[in-house]
Amino acid sequence: QSGYITLDYGFKNTGSTTSKITFLNGEEGILRYRGYSIEDLCDKSNFLEVAHLLIYGKLPTAEEYDQWIYDIKMHTMVHEDIKRILEGFPSNAHPMGVLSSLITSLTAFYPESLDPNRSIDGVKLSIVRLLAKLPTMAAWAFKNEVGHPVNYPDNTLDYVSNFLKMMFALPAEKYEVDPVISNALDTLLILHADHEQNCSTSTVRMVGSSHASLYTSISAGVNALWGPLHGGANQAVIEMLDNIKKDGGDVEKYIKKAKDKNDPFRLMGFGHRVYKNFDPRAKIIKKHADEVLSKLGVEDPVLEIAKKLEETALKDEYFIERKLFPNVDFYSGIIYRAMGIPTEMFTVMFAMGRLPGWISQWLEMRENNEPIGRPRQIYTGENLREYVEMSKR
Ligand code: SDX
Repeated sequence: QSGYITLDYGFKNTGSTTSKITFLNGEEGILRYRGYSIEDLCDKSNFLEVAHLLIYGKLPTAEEYDQWIYDIKMHTMVHEDIKRILEGFPSNAHPMGVLSSLITSLTAFYPESLDPNRSIDGVKLSIVRLLAKLPTMAAWAFKNEVGHPVNYPDNTLDYVSNFLKMMFALPAEKYEVDPVISNALDTLLILHADHEQNCSTSTVRMVGSSHASLYTSISAGVNALWGPLHGGANQAVIEMLDNIKKDGGDVEKYIKKAKDKNDPFRLMGFGHRVYKNFDPRAKIIKKHADEVLSKLGVEDPVLEIAKKLEETALKDEYFIERKLFPNVDFYSGIIYRAMGIPTEMFTVMFAMGRLPGWISQWLEMRENNEPIGRPRQIYTGENLREYVEMSKR
C-alpha cells in the first residue's frame, strides 16, 4: 500500500469534511447553527424557521417564511398507498424501523428523486416533501404500533400541533393541542436540529456521497440514530431511570455499576464525544423539564432520580476524570413522557428534530461535490495461503 494509513477508530481525531452549518465547542459547551446560538434561537425562533436557517444558511424574510410554511403545508399528505406499506408491518414493529422504511418508500412515489443529476430546484422539492411528510409518517408509524386508525394532516394547525394531533387524536374524541406541549416540543426539535458530524449525520453524508437519493440517505441516518449509544439513548435513559426507581432509587449502586469495567452497564444520557463540559442542550432541556412538568401538573418521580443521579455522578472522581456530563438525551425523555409521548417514540422525536440538520449536511456535501466516502484500513489478517481440499482439513 503506497503512503501510510492513519488508524483512528471511531474517527475520534479525524475531520471528515469542512462545513459552514454548525459550530461546536466541546470544552466550553457552545453550540451555534449558522452562527446563531441555540440559546438565542430557542428564545426567539421556531423549528421551521431554524430548519430554513440550517438548510439555506439564513433566517428567512417574512415573505420567504410565508412561502416556506405554505410549501410545507401543501405537502403534509402522504400517498394513500403508504397505508398498504404500514399494513405489511407487525403491530409490534418499532416506529424507527417503520419510519426508515416509509422514508425509503418515497423513492417509489417520487422516482425523479433517484436522478443523481437533479437540479437544485428539483432537490428543493424533495426537501420540502421530506420535511412536510416526516411528521405524518412518524405519527402513522405510531398509530400502526398501537393499532389505532391513522389521522390525516390538519393544515389549519402549525407544524408541531399538526403532528401532535395526528399522534394522539382518536375518532371518537375531540382533541385539542395543549400549547404548553406544542411549545416545549418545538424547542426540543430546535435543540436536536443539527450537531455537526455525529454518527447519523456522518452516515447521511456517507450514503449521499455515493449519489444515493436524499430519501435513502436520510433513511440511513434514521437507522444510525436508532442505536442506543446515539439517538436511541433517550429511550435507554428512561428505561434506566425506571429500573433505578424499581430498584428503590439507589443511584449510588448504579454509579458503581457504571464505573465497573466488568459490568456492561453505562450511565445512559451521560458522556459525549465532543462535549467535555455540560452539553448546552441538556442545560436548556433540564430547565424546561421543571417548567413543563409543573405546567402539566405531572409528578414524575424519575425526574428527582435523574437530578440525584446527575448530582452524585458530577461529584464522582471517575466521571470528573473522564469529563462525563449529562448530554442531550439525559432529560429529554422525561419531558417527552410528561407530554404523553410513548417511550418507543422518543428516538422518532429525535429524528424529527434532526431532519433539517441531515438535509443541510447532505446538501452541503453534494453542492461541494465531495468525493465518495471510502476510508482505508490496516490489514491484520492471514498472509497468502493455498486452498486445502475438504478431505484434508
Ligand atoms: C448523542 O456525537 C454527537 O454529537 C451525538 C449527539 C447528537 O446530537 O448527534 O450529541 C447525540 O448521541 C448523545 C450521546 C447519547 N449516548 C449516550 O448517552 C450513551 C452513553 N454514553 C456513552 O456510550 C458515551 O459517552 C458516548 C457514546 C456518548 C461517547 O463515547 P466515546 O466518545 O467513544 O467515549 P468512550 O466510549 O471512549 O468513553 C471514554 C471513557 C471510557 O472509560 P475508559 O475506557 O477511559 O476507562 O469514558 C467512559 C468509557 O468507559 N464512559 C462512560 C460513559 N461514557 C463514557 N462510563 C460510564 N457511563 C457512560 N455513559
